[in-house]
Amino acid sequence: MEHYAAIIGWGMSVPRRVVTNDELARQIDTSNEWIRSRTGIGERRIASADEYTSVLATAASQQAIERAGIAPEAIDLVILATSTPDRPFPATASVIQAQLGIPRAGAFDVVAACSGFVYGLHIANSMIQSGAHQTILLVAADLFSHILNWHDRNTCVLFGDGAGAVVLQQRDQPLGLLSAVLGSAGEYESLMLIERGGTRQPLSAENSHLQDRYFSMHGREVFKHAIREMALSSQQAIEEAGLQPDAINLIIPHQANLRIIEVLIKRLEIPFKRVFVNLERYGNTSAASVPIALCEAVEQGQLHDGDHVLLTSFGGGFTWASAVVRWGR
Ligand code: COA
Repeated sequence: MEHYAAIIGWGMSVPRRVVTNDELARQIDTSNEWIRSRTGIGERRIASADEYTSVLATAASQQAIERAGIAPEAIDLVILATSTPDRPFPATASVIQAQLGIPRAGAFDVVAACSGFVYGLHIANSMIQSGAHQTILLVAADLFSHILNWHDRNTCVLFGDGAGAVVLQQRDQPLGLLSAVLGSAGEYESLMLIERGGTRQPLSAENSHLQDRYFSMHGREVFKHAIREMALSSQQAIEEAGLQPDAINLIIPHQANLRIIEVLIKRLEIPFKRVFVNLERYGNTSAASVPIALCEAVEQGQLHDGDHVLLTSFGGGFTWASAVVRWGR
């Protein structure tokens, strides 16, 4: 019998502290007007010291497990998508597994930058389809506030911290992921990266003052690639799901920039009213942006049983991923 992986629970968690554009404009040479007109972002959440990656991820997961109406013991695999783990070693997924009291379930991290959640969805779906697992917790959490250069106005205004989670469970009806298209173009690594701090250019006492230990980005180049790859992979995912674009009820794109989303939607020839956007309040939360938006879309009653949702994301690597989900549990 064929197996499917329905999304049966969803949750999110963001830091308490709201940082507005005006607050940033008091610290660096920027303005609310510039940030809003170039990106659509109005404010973002920034984590305090007690709100590290596993804390937000665990809170989002607890909400998802509660909404799924299952006991934590029912989960047999934990996947965390993050580029900003609690510690460089070991994986933070195991911390979440222990915090949630999920006994002995497998746990690992996925690193695919902003595309991490949709990558994780494909992995979780494949694991359930194969029959290897029945109930999987997929959580995405990123705290870019820790890797940003807060003196670099080109990047620090764009991101926020947060976590989003889903629970996937095996079903025999065609629910959940209908298609997924993953891609990568490593030749563009230098357009969005942290140069120093890994094994290639290690951090040391002598070089730890250098700016290249922070996130850097060529915004205009990223902008073009993001639109191109999200559009192409979305079209492919819709086709592979056996659908026409007008059968997509809701698009939940990676929440990086409103202008990227507007151009993308035009290319896909889907009316803007079918797009969910919440980046005004959170900025770009990297891997967490799609599940946070998904969670808010469900809670606002924008998804109904049988609806087709297109998820599409793009991030460092470059990586990108698009997927079509049939909603319902
Ligand atoms: N406030 C004020 N001015 C700023 C600024 C800020 N926060 N950030 C950059 N600028 C300046 C630049 O220095 C530049 O000035 P210059 O012309 O004197 O050098 C000017 O604004 C215009 O920069 P430009 O790069 O042309 O702006 P843009 O319209 O392309 O918008 C981004 C810049 C970053 C918003 C846009 O390129 C973008 O969103 N790219 C995608 C980034 C992204 O989403 N990355 C994550 C994907 S996962």
